Amino acid sequence: MGFNNTNLTAKDRIVLALDTDSLEEVERLVTLLKDYVGCFKVGPQLFTSCAYDAIDLIKKLGAEIYFDGKFHDIPSTVAKAGSNLIKRGVTTFSAHLAGGTKMLTTTVKVARETAKKFNMPAPTILGVTLLSSFGQRTLTEELNVKMNIDEYVSHLTYLAKESKIDGVIASASEARKIRKEFSDEFIILCPAIRPTWSVVNDQIRVVTPADAIRSGVDYMVVGRPITAADDPIAAANLIIDEIEQASKTVEV
Ligand code: C5P
Repeated sequence: MGFNNTNLTAKDRIVLALDTDSLEEVERLVTLLKDYVGCFKVGPQLFTSCAYDAIDLIKKLGAEIYFDGKFHDIPSTVAKAGSNLIKRGVTTFSAHLAGGTKMLTTTVKVARETAKKFNMPAPTILGVTLLSSFGQRTLTEELNVKMNIDEYVSHLTYLAKESKIDGVIASASEARKIRKEFSDEFIILCPAIRPTWSVVNDQIRVVTPADAIRSGVDYMVVGRPITAADDPIAAANLIIDEIEQASKTVEV
């Protein structure tokens, strides 16, 4: 249950994004792919259409869930949201590191207490660094942050460390830096994965599964390269092969 970094197989490393509005599609994708990916990511799109029906269905089908809520609110609100998820059997979720250490530490503490109280596995909380939709210009001009992206991501990762967050969500180039600065302290989850044979869609800074692994990434979010493929199982198997090959030549 949850993300754990020991003896990961290539399949374990794939987090399949369930970006759909329909329970039928959830059932189809989970049934088809649960033996080919490590877990299923539920985000705002699916949750606002099917809420806990989707979560209960995925659990009933025997698959793991990562709730990508990207919470960012006052400490007690985020802590209660995390606690509610755990009570419903979801122990892995995300929050924005920019929410600050008070929000993060409160959430970690309450999540751990709730998991213990309800006999659930220890929770895994991942911190969003900087959304990949941000570039240097928007960071500087809109958020008025004077650091460059790499420095800002490092700064946020220090907040994650201080708050005892389990992992961070970052791009492959940032993952490389995080591994150097923080060694294996964090689980690193990387989105915007695009194998060379897939369509880029609306993602901007994309990376191949092999490059993600070589950069020190533990888990990768993959959506459309698998879900929109003519043969999703064949697509997942290609990604598994690519991860296995790259794992043999990890640089960091
Ligand atoms: O592989 P695909 O582009 O379909 O994956 C889309 C998923 O990746 C979405 O669920 C989105 O939330 C997630 N994601 C992302 N970029 C980020 C963080 C998450 O694309 N920086």
